[in-house]
Amino acid sequence: MENQHQIAVVTGSSTGIGFETSLLLARNGFYTYATMRDTTKSKNFEKIVVNENLPLEVLYLDVDKSDSVKKAINKILEKNGKIDVLINNAGYGLFGALEDMSIEGIKEQFETNLFGTIRTIKEVLPIMRNQKKGIIVNISSMSGIVGIPATSIYVSTKYALEGLSESMSYELEQYGIKVILIEPGVIKTNFVSNIKFPDIMDSISSQALLANNDSLDARSGTDSGRKKNLSSYSVTVDKFLSHYYPAINKGPLPKEVSNVILEAIKNVSISSESFFRYLVGEDAKSLAEAKKSMSDSELHKFISQNLL
Ligand SMILES: NC(=O)c1ccc[n+]([C@@H]2O[C@H](COP(=O)([O-])OP(=O)(O)OC[C@H]3O[C@@H](n4cnc5c(N)ncnc54)[C@H](OP(=O)(O)O)[C@@H]3O)[C@@H](O)[C@H]2O)c1
Repeated sequence: MENQHQIAVVTGSSTGIGFETSLLLARNGFYTYATMRDTTKSKNFEKIVVNENLPLEVLYLDVDKSDSVKKAINKILEKNGKIDVLINNAGYGLFGALEDMSIEGIKEQFETNLFGTIRTIKEVLPIMRNQKKGIIVNISSMSGIVGIPATSIYVSTKYALEGLSESMSYELEQYGIKVILIEPGVIKTNFVSNIKFPDIMDSISSQALLANNDSLDARSGTDSGRKKNLSSYSVTVDKFLSHYYPAINKGPLPKEVSNVILEAIKNVSISSESFFRYLVGEDAKSLAEAKKSMSDSELHKFISQNLL
């Protein structure tokens, strides 16, 4: 039954971009494995899948855990004999100043955003190489194009993803495997409530949050305003967050990203190119344009003026 379909695997499908992308792919005829690390969150899919009779299955996959990645990919292979599309979406943001962060916290951020992606790609590659066909979509960010204040480690993971994607496309080209980078700007998802801050800051963001919109405090899930600020970088981080939090409320919905992902996958099938890059959102487009047209010092001033 599933074999009649193209087989797609999406990581981090419980919410946001992964959730919308899994639904959109299934609605467009892909037999979609919506993977997630907490399958109790599959409730979000249940009604929709039944009502619309979608070819979508939820599967446990924690990108931080090699065993779980191996098991999930093996199960999909056993059932279908192929994987056509892999979407590496699972990720979160570690925000704050570098000096405030523990090495453990930094490693955890890389574990999910970078090594989780690498781990999943490595499991899927032998399958795609044998079938001489496949599409790998990596969800990067505008944070993979320019350095953004108060997010140096998150930015580092996305820059790494960019280099990984660009470089691996050369070795994968000969096996018909295409690589796509998706670079969204600020998107209105649970991303904001899942942001981690270093302990010393303990959600330093309150001032910025409260200054702009009380309801944002609930979104961030913090009571930081009441905590003592021990960071030497609180002013910088707060300044950045005073721009960032309001931007989220005005940001596009994750559907906008999933539409671009689907379009990108369709384009790949009709193109002889092996590497593709797609920006999503006006903010991402204007930052990418600024990076291209400005000198490093002009860009530095531009970012400082706009985000600090
Ligand atoms: N929202 C934005 O502004 C934005 C902008 C650019 C790029 N992005 C990127 O888009 C991707 C999706 O984020 P989103 O905006 O949709 O945020 P989100 O709603 O918070 O979704 C993140 C997803 O990743 C999952 N995840 C986290 N760690 C995981 C792990 N170890 N194993 C498996 N799944 C894991 C989460 O699962 P749980 O539900 O279990 O936590 C959730 O399903 C991320 O890579 C993010 O960096 C987001």
